[in-house]
Amino acid sequence: MPTLTVNGRSVTVASDATILDAARAAGVEVPTLCHFDGLEPWGGCRLCVVDMSQANWDDDWFKVVTACNHPVKEGMTVVTDSERIIETRRVVLDLLLARCPDTPLVQRWAREYGIEKTSYTPNPEPDDCILCGLCTRVCDHIGVSAIASVNRGWGREIAPPFNQPPPDCIGCLACAEICPTDCIPYETSNSRRQIWGKEFEMLRDPETGEAVITKEQSEHFAKRTGVPMSYFETSDRSKRREMAKTFEKLSVFDSGARQ
Ligand code: SF4
Ligand code: SF4
Ligand code: FES
Repeated sequence: MPTLTVNGRSVTVASDATILDAARAAGVEVPTLCHFDGLEPWGGCRLCVVDMSQANWDDDWFKVVTACNHPVKEGMTVVTDSERIIETRRVVLDLLLARCPDTPLVQRWAREYGIEKTSYTPNPEPDDCILCGLCTRVCDHIGVSAIASVNRGWGREIAPPFNQPPPDCIGCLACAEICPTDCIPYETSNSRRQIWGKEFEMLRDPETGEAVITKEQSEHFAKRTGVPMSYFETSDRSKRREMAKTFEKLSVFDSGARQ
């Protein structure tokens, strides 16, 4: 288990930990935009940059690295608030504010770093997508990969192939739910769901009538896990009821056995 210092605080972490994990363990906050625990780190937004020096480097030699995907090493020194780190984060946020001038999340972070207005030419067509890649990565993670990042420059965006309803999308809403700026529109009701221009029929819990999941989602998860589709089509309320009934039976059996 490597021991390192983060802003002068000594911390020991698991050998597969990242600098971000070590900073959190040391109680040091490092800002992130494209990181989500449980998803493979990507290192795309560059907001989590820190200064890092290895044990065998000269004392004054530090390298700027992204904390979310950089592994820790024994004797490493990490500084999260040096002048050049704050300046690097300011540039990242300034550029992001130019792309997304009206997005509250970006405005909030920019303000934290003293930026009220971008110093670059603002995007002529302001967008709320910060290109964090969380939506595409979560879609890959569930084994679907229905959407991707397309185009370049101002025109870069997240979209399904040929901007058509994606044939592979299972309507799970994971992309919309993970999006930090809530910029993926969708509609969902007790009978239908719509996302990325694709329509889905909702499957309902046979007991409660609640819409639980799309048919495509149920089929996908059943195929991946080997668990019967009926499990995914049962609402949490029904599952809790079944569990309560089981506990009731067990306690009757238990008290009978004790008499
Ligand atoms: S709703 Fe479609 S695009 Fe979004 S994560 Fe689920 S499968 Fe992927
Ligand atoms: S749509 Fe949302 S989750 Fe996807 S890249 Fe843009 S901001 Fe990130
Ligand atoms: S959080 Fe590390 S690069 Fe985005």
